[in-house]
Amino acid sequence: MERLISVCLWLILALHLVLRVAGNAEGDALNALKNNLADPNNLLQDWDPTDINPCQWYNITCNSENSVTRIDLGNAKLSGKLVPDLGLLSNLQYLELYSNNISGEIPEEIGNLTNLVSLDLYLNALTGHIPVTLGNLRKLRLLRLNNNSLTGQIPMALTTIETLQLLDVSNNQLEGDIPFQ
Ligand SMILES: *[C@@H]1O[C@H](CO)[C@@H](O)[C@H](O)[C@H]1NC(C)=O
Ligand SMILES: *[C@@H]1O[C@H](CO)[C@@H](O)[C@H](O)[C@H]1NC(C)=O
Ligand SMILES: *[C@@H]1O[C@H](CO)[C@@H](O)[C@H](O)[C@H]1NC(C)=O
Ligand SMILES: *[C@@H]1O[C@H](CO)[C@@H](O)[C@H](O)[C@H]1NC(C)=O
Repeated sequence: MERLISVCLWLILALHLVLRVAGNAEGDALNALKNNLADPNNLLQDWDPTDINPCQWYNITCNSENSVTRIDLGNAKLSGKLVPDLGLLSNLQYLELYSNNISGEIPEEIGNLTNLVSLDLYLNALTGHIPVTLGNLRKLRLLRLNNNSLTGQIPMALTTIETLQLLDVSNNQLEGDIPFQ
């Protein structure tokens, strides 16, 4: 009897650990972002990677299945870089990181976020090209990349996004034709 109880307890513990690890893939992706950002105001201090999911974290919103739908961190004085892991947040609809000091390139994995409605990275210090993969964002309504240091061409693929209502790429170092006129 005692043996049975201890086996049961062990199984419950094992299951708990498995669920915890499996359930927090999105938390891990957000934690990877946190680890690449400098956050002088400690806004991300409650982003605790040991939580069962990230749904209670500062300015993170989830749907009823505890999957992340919004990141609202505009005007948050964040420096550092974006991470490819963001592409794992498959239900993300709003990525709001405008008016920070984020540098480096826009990860091409952002193009995996096919539920994205709004991508606001304006007023940062982003460099490199606009990823062609952003053309895969078939639900995108707002794409604001203005006031960065982006270079290269504006991908033609962006012209095929039928839902797009607002595209602002002004005040960068882009070249070539603007394919929207
Ligand atoms: C966090 O969310 C609140 C409520 O939506 C908002 O007022 C605030 O500006 C957000 N903070 C940042 C840094 O974006
Ligand atoms: C902006 O980020 C750069 C590093 O990319 C850093 O050197 C600089 O201090 C940051 N500026 C502010 C105001 O945080
Ligand atoms: C995400 O995007 C990258 C680069 O665009 C691609 O190589 C990768 O296979 C994608 N991952 C998934 C899970 O779709
Ligand atoms: C964006 O950049 C332009 C040109 O440098 C500047 O005039 C404008 O004030 C910037 N926008 C903001 C909101 O800072």
